[in-house]
Amino acid sequence: MKQYTVAALPGEGIGLEVVEATLTILQKVAAKHNFSLQINYGEIGQAALEKYGSYFPEATSQICDRSDGILFGAVNKGGLLELRQQFEFFANLRPVKTHPSLKSERGFSAIDILFVRELVSGIYFGASGRGEDERGNFGYHTMHYYDWQIERIAKIALEKAKQRKGLLTVAHKENALPHLPWKKLVLEVAREYPEVTVEPMLVDNLAMQLVIQPQHFDVIVAGNLFGDILSDLGGALVGSVGLLGSASLNESGFGLYEPIHGTAPDIAGKDIANPLGTFASAIMMLEQWGEHEAAKDWQQSWDAILTEGYRTQDLYFHDSEILINTSELVQLFLRKLNSSFIKKKSNTLT
Ligand code: IPM
Ligand code: MN
Repeated sequence: MKQYTVAALPGEGIGLEVVEATLTILQKVAAKHNFSLQINYGEIGQAALEKYGSYFPEATSQICDRSDGILFGAVNKGGLLELRQQFEFFANLRPVKTHPSLKSERGFSAIDILFVRELVSGIYFGASGRGEDERGNFGYHTMHYYDWQIERIAKIALEKAKQRKGLLTVAHKENALPHLPWKKLVLEVAREYPEVTVEPMLVDNLAMQLVIQPQHFDVIVAGNLFGDILSDLGGALVGSVGLLGSASLNESGFGLYEPIHGTAPDIAGKDIANPLGTFASAIMMLEQWGEHEAAKDWQQSWDAILTEGYRTQDLYFHDSEILINTSELVQLFLRKLNSSFIKKKSNTLT
């Protein structure tokens, strides 16, 4: 039997609940699809700082190193950027797709966008500091990109666009930041992808177009900061940021899987967090492992449960819907996966 090792890094806030919920379902999916899991927990963020004196301690790094995938919850500050950089998870994939059952009543457009965000460079990692001169105290963060860093994320985005509808929008700000030639570099790499149409767009206009005509977009490639902001906007377009998952991959295909929401301290520990974004992330992990059947099964339950009208509070909109908490949602998934399990078994008998 195939065995996968998962590094589980719940972090803080609702990270704890959503990762726990996800591991429960993941175990179920593994049993059903004939693979086994070894789960190793690692500490990151505030708890790690208190225990080891570092937000991302060596012990956690080693747990990640020995895994086939990292399942991450959320942290307030500290740990996450180090983790992303340590393993060079440069390609952050954030799919944003409208669920049919959330569409009609809420008046959403039917959208299917993949945000491809550069994750280990740009202003998050450039030279930074605080200083003082004759005009006062100041601070700075530098948006720094090697051309090859832009080119390598461009390639990922072009590959994805090629497999999808063939439109790649490039978020850039060359009118104000001419030394970061995203438009020019992506267009150059795109010469090898004649089947993809590349559409450079100033990031401010892009934000506006996402609101006005989100159905226009297919793949959007952006630097670290712009990608962060635009993908949250994506959450608003489909109902809740709580629905969205992500995969962050390095050159060898090893990945970090995390929901795009944060720690949500106001609702932490109340059993009301939405684990669907973390489920979506784990489904991406299964896809990356090549466990396509398992991924499909989980995804079908995901879709069915929303279609049936079950909603955590972030998604609850109308009294025709059924408001449930996190643990009830987990039970629903377990039942759903069980019933398709029985169906699958009886299919093989007949
Ligand atoms: C995200 C988060 C992080 C980011 C924060 C927590 C540093 O907002 O994953 O989108 O900005 O990358
Ligand atoms: Mn963010």
